[in-house]
Amino acid sequence: MTESVDPHQELIERAAAILAESHYCIALTGAGISAESGIPTFRGKDGLWTKHGEPPLNQYEQFSADPAEWWQNVAERRRHPDELTATIATAQPNDAHYAMAELERIGVIKHIITQNVDGLHRAAGTGSLTEIHGCSTLLRCISCNTRSPFDEIPELFPPRCDQCGGIVKTDTVMFGEPIPPDCLQRCYEESSKADCVILVGTTAVVSPAADFAFAIGQRGHPMIEVNLDPTIISRYCAVAIHDKAGELMSRITAEVKDILDEPPA
Ligand code: OAD
Repeated sequence: MTESVDPHQELIERAAAILAESHYCIALTGAGISAESGIPTFRGKDGLWTKHGEPPLNQYEQFSADPAEWWQNVAERRRHPDELTATIATAQPNDAHYAMAELERIGVIKHIITQNVDGLHRAAGTGSLTEIHGCSTLLRCISCNTRSPFDEIPELFPPRCDQCGGIVKTDTVMFGEPIPPDCLQRCYEESSKADCVILVGTTAVVSPAADFAFAIGQRGHPMIEVNLDPTIISRYCAVAIHDKAGELMSRITAEVKDILDEPPA
């Protein structure tokens, strides 16, 4: 009789050892971390764009050309949400989001840069967070970047900012839209301090989000990848583990807590 061998255990232990030794670990997360919450990814086998094609690259240009008309479309979609919008609105954090919040609580992860707009890291309890592509439950002024909750459809299209009178749009970053400077600044500050980066559920092909992670690796610090499939960065990682993030992040977190002598969950 042969004992069953866990293919990931050694890699999980190595990842946990690196995390436990780090002084300032930051994380980059992407659509894959929310896949187990029922939200489809963009690329890959069942990805939204693989099935339906990529959205137009001039979204921001279209918005800028006629913000009032753009808002009418947003209001219409909000009154009659499609399946994906409804899925995102009701999705709940999964084990991977909770594990990452726990890694922050015990002082290991200092900051998460997420490319997701679903708000699930915040819902899981993560506090130090940059939503670099925005958040679907917020509005943002394109002039002064003031954000406010997107609770109701505004009365006037386009809505105007209370602070500066600028045009307000949803916080989600469109194709062709510059990343808000406050997000870029925070990502730069946090990644400059990092001595370790863990990438979870991302193909790491989109700039500038992925660049912040690469820069940490280029300074000679370890990169850890937790992703269902291998990516372009796998071979540059000190540890790359390929399977679902929910179970992997829970196990890595349990090992880190073991090393640091933290009580288990
Ligand atoms: P992608 O859809 O490109 O990649 C998702 C990754 O998650 C893939 O590599 C999958 O293998 C992996 N994956 C799927 N299920 C998983 C699971 N259960 N556990 C772990 N990994 C899993 O998504 P992103 O890399 O996030 O930006 O895409 C980055 C950006 O591309 C998005 O934020 C979006 C798009 O441009 C904007 O729309 C502004």
